[in-house]
Amino acid sequence: MYKSFRIAIALQNRQSIRHNLFKPKNHMWVEITALNQIPESDILKVKVEETSLILNRQGANVTCYRNACTHLEYPIDMGRVSDGIITCPFHKYRYKLDTGKCLNAPSDSLESYPVKIEGEIVFVEIGS
Ligand code: FES
Repeated sequence: MYKSFRIAIALQNRQSIRHNLFKPKNHMWVEITALNQIPESDILKVKVEETSLILNRQGANVTCYRNACTHLEYPIDMGRVSDGIITCPFHKYRYKLDTGKCLNAPSDSLESYPVKIEGEIVFVEIGS
């Protein structure tokens, strides 16, 4: 009787560790939209709780970034998109939408979020 009690505690602890490894605390996948709702070679602005995001789709490849320029943190969703590059409407910083890299300041990148697609649904991993 005593032995089986100890095993139960050990199993509970192992499950708890696995849970923390595969599902980090305060991170979760959020269903955003259907893949075909993201305009091809353009951006879609979405808001998840207090976080403003932009999603870009090039074919079946979707990227997601925080809607904030690295220069002064102004939103970039009103920027012009052309040839896979978004240009910030304020001071013209340019970013590659497939990588988030800034072409004006190569050490800077838009803050990116992991994306997964299940069927036709796009999910973004949001953490705090
Ligand atoms: S805020 Fe985007 S370039 Fe200045």
